[in-house]
Amino acid sequence: MTALGKLFHTTAFKLTLVYLTVFALFAASLLGYFAWNTRRLATEEITRVVNAEVNGLTEQFNIGGIRRLVIIIENRSRRPGSSLYLVTTPAGQGLAGNISSLAEGVLQEVGWNESIYRRLDDQDGGEHRALVRVQQLPGGFRLLVGRDLDERERLYHIIVDTGRWSIALVIVLGLTGGFFVARRVLRRVDAMTETTRSIMAGNLSGRLPVSGSEDELDRLAVNLNAMLERIETLLKGFKEVSDNIAHDLKTPLTRLRNRCEEALRTGKGEGEYRAALHGTIEESDSLIRTFNALLMIARAESGEGGTPMGEFDAAEIARGVGELYDPLADDKGIALKVEASTPAPLKGNRELVTQALANLVDNAIKYGGPAKKDANGAEVTIKAQSEGDRILLTVADSGPGIAVADRGRVVERFVRLEQSRTEPGSGLGLSLASAVAQLHGGELKFEDNSPGLKAVLTLPRGGPQLPLSSQQTVSGDNPTPAR
Ligand SMILES: Nc1ncnc2c1ncn2[C@@H]1O[C@H](COP(=O)(O)OP(=O)(O)OP(=O)(O)O)[C@@H](O)[C@H]1O
Ligand SMILES: [Mg+2]
Repeated sequence: MTALGKLFHTTAFKLTLVYLTVFALFAASLLGYFAWNTRRLATEEITRVVNAEVNGLTEQFNIGGIRRLVIIIENRSRRPGSSLYLVTTPAGQGLAGNISSLAEGVLQEVGWNESIYRRLDDQDGGEHRALVRVQQLPGGFRLLVGRDLDERERLYHIIVDTGRWSIALVIVLGLTGGFFVARRVLRRVDAMTETTRSIMAGNLSGRLPVSGSEDELDRLAVNLNAMLERIETLLKGFKEVSDNIAHDLKTPLTRLRNRCEEALRTGKGEGEYRAALHGTIEESDSLIRTFNALLMIARAESGEGGTPMGEFDAAEIARGVGELYDPLADDKGIALKVEASTPAPLKGNRELVTQALANLVDNAIKYGGPAKKDANGAEVTIKAQSEGDRILLTVADSGPGIAVADRGRVVERFVRLEQSRTEPGSGLGLSLASAVAQLHGGELKFEDNSPGLKAVLTLPRGGPQLPLSSQQTVSGDNPTPAR
């Protein structure tokens, strides 16, 4: 399609055409009505004047006969700008008046008529049009009185011509305006098309241009940009997960393979083979846990769509997790306390919130134990409380805590701090907790418990409030291993 063809096909141009047609029709009917009415009023005025004159002259005739009428008409005919007059004998011979010629048969017809005429005193002797009334007088005389119609016609034509020119001007201006508006819209749409092409070609960071005029195209561009932002973040997330899987799962898989190979090569007797198989199963379990955690993180990060949300009591969750971890805490000589007696109703995904809290408690027990093995008084507290429109799930321990500088990166997938290498784990626990927080429109924060770490999971009581795009930034934050 040519550039001009594209222009004529834009909605803006088509709309201009429609409005222009409607407006032109409306204006034409209005002006038509105005012109017609003006003409009618002018005719009515002529009729009134002529009627008055005919009546007056007939009266004079009745008083003084044809002589008197002839004198009066001769007088009146000489006045400049006078009406048209003619008095004839019954045989049609002119006795007085200012008309030199009339259309054929006009005098024979009594009553109103439109006729062309020539005026006696007219220098150029040209033909004009007049509205005349013929009156039969006693004795067979005829009296004709009329008014020139030129003025009426001139007025009529002035209105019609003005109307014609105004409508033509409106159409020209409308079309020019429509052309420029369409061209402006087309230019912006072309720019958008160009950007989408480059995005489709792989430039995922491309964004649609926003003019700042806050019109409908701007709003569309802003929304599409938000969508692109979200898609880019998700893709980045997926890429990160695949990279993580490639790098971080390779080591345990290689270890697994080497263990089997070693057993085959050096294994003597059933006992050794069984031990090798046990080891393999343990290693596989840990791999499965990691996979499960990664899947859960992906699920939490991919958003609302696949995550059912429901109402539940966060305090009950806290008590449940507390019960679950009590034996483990006991084993490690840690006192596990739960402060969750008042209900804390929350809308969200129960399974994911439970897992997130479990991961925090797991960490607190794993890393929050007493610095020295024989030291007493290690304590982990799980708290669930309502605060305004938010629910706070807090897990506090009295261990070494996490240095402020490390608090940002511990939520990334597979990140484990050097000091914790002795403990088993894959570095996914906090990633899941953080992804769950974001999925719910909340956040995961770390504070000092002096000593120890206080992990605070803040969730809005009513569930995610904002559109997903602005609420989730999938990239760096990740979840925890499923147990
Ligand atoms: N309560 C805590 N006190 C001190 N360090 C902690 C605490 N919680 C987490 N960390 C540090 O943050 C790192 C990341 O924790 P995360 O839960 O993500 O992984 P993990 O516990 O190592 O493994 P996983 O949870 O997958 O079994 C831990 O390795 C640890 O170094
Ligand atoms: Mg953990």
